[in-house]
Amino acid sequence: MGQLLSRSTQSTAQIPILILGATGYIGGSVLSRLLAHPDVERFEITALVRSAEKAERLRELGVKTVIGSTDDAEKLETLASQAHIVFSMVDADDLAAIQTILRGLKKRHDTSSDIPILIHTSGAAVLGDQAKGLHDSDVIYDDTNFEQIEALPPSQPHHDVDIAIVEADKQGYLKSYIVVPSLVHGIASGPLVDIGIQNPFSMQIPGFILAGLDRGQVGMVGEGRAIWSNVHIDDVANLFLVLFDTILSNPEKVGHGSEGYFFAENGEHTWYDLSKAIGEALVQAGLSKDSEPTSLTDDELIKYTGSVERGEQMGTNARCRANKARALGWNPTKTSQDMFDGLNLQVDALVKAMQAKQQKASTSLHHIPEID
Ligand SMILES: NC(=O)c1ccc[n+]([C@@H]2O[C@H](COP(=O)([O-])OP(=O)(O)OC[C@H]3O[C@@H](n4cnc5c(N)ncnc54)[C@H](OP(=O)(O)O)[C@@H]3O)[C@@H](O)[C@H]2O)c1
Repeated sequence: MGQLLSRSTQSTAQIPILILGATGYIGGSVLSRLLAHPDVERFEITALVRSAEKAERLRELGVKTVIGSTDDAEKLETLASQAHIVFSMVDADDLAAIQTILRGLKKRHDTSSDIPILIHTSGAAVLGDQAKGLHDSDVIYDDTNFEQIEALPPSQPHHDVDIAIVEADKQGYLKSYIVVPSLVHGIASGPLVDIGIQNPFSMQIPGFILAGLDRGQVGMVGEGRAIWSNVHIDDVANLFLVLFDTILSNPEKVGHGSEGYFFAENGEHTWYDLSKAIGEALVQAGLSKDSEPTSLTDDELIKYTGSVERGEQMGTNARCRANKARALGWNPTKTSQDMFDGLNLQVDALVKAMQAKQQKASTSLHHIPEID
């Protein structure tokens, strides 16, 4: 993070920043870094938060809060219209919410000289194929290859939202940047986790662990042969900050719109290897007798992910290379080996969080993830 505000942003006025998803795994990690930024005094950070209790704790950290949901279109549009920068880190599939944010940012542009900035979180499921765990793939997506990304069919997961954002950028009333994390691993840490208002857990690995606990043995989609990229939560959050700093200090250095996709990855795994390692961690914890993954049935995919289609995303190939962020100076440090090495800790932390949740179900602020 640098003190790198460009001349155009070096006025005495604070930069209004709207954070959506401030208490989430990714959003909380990004907000923690913004609060530790050397230029934090220059930021007026507002978070839209669903829980009054969490909002109160955020206010104590110097964050302005508005209590509400992204489903409240009027509130969301107004908040977006008041922000120069919006971090969207709630739901990669919520087209209605994004359309509302875009309306708010357009209103801002139409009533001022500002060209606001939208930094949105998509996900590597957008790159997925139909492998259903039965084969790997040689297709590797490179975020410097704009045509390759533009050629993705609109029917790909998350892509309707991404397309709406890129279209808004083409119209010129905002500049858009879309971060595309691959499988994010690791337990989030930082001040928001410490005070119990941030979800510390990711989606996919905790989902496999919880499903493995429920069915007694870890699962996988098909034969687990497909390959995904992966990245640690700290590296993902650092990528958002590298992007943010570069947008403020040196905007011409960073592509936007259709040239503004930023993959987040620093390694790859097969789903079988990941499930097998989770199985071993469950066995070592005395929570399963057999470390060998077995195929999840359609009924199980529905039970653990909500639908067969959603579950099968964890049997796709989604291989990518984060060349754009690296060119901006992003330097991820955690590898696939770190992901595997962290699984025992992950199992332990999840089990403890489940026990704590059971003990004080109504008062706990901690969030137990579902598979996603
Ligand atoms: N984790 C991953 O591995 C991964 C990988 C790729 C992409 N992504 C994408 O990144 C995004 C964020 O993921 P995450 O892992 O950070 O999720 P998360 O931990 O569940 O966080 C979601 C955040 O959004 C908030 N939120 C949810 N619904 C809301 C609503 N209707 N109105 C206002 N706030 C709402 C939650 O607040 P509460 O505290 O009230 O729940 C929380 O702050 C998702 O779109 C996800 O698909 C995640």
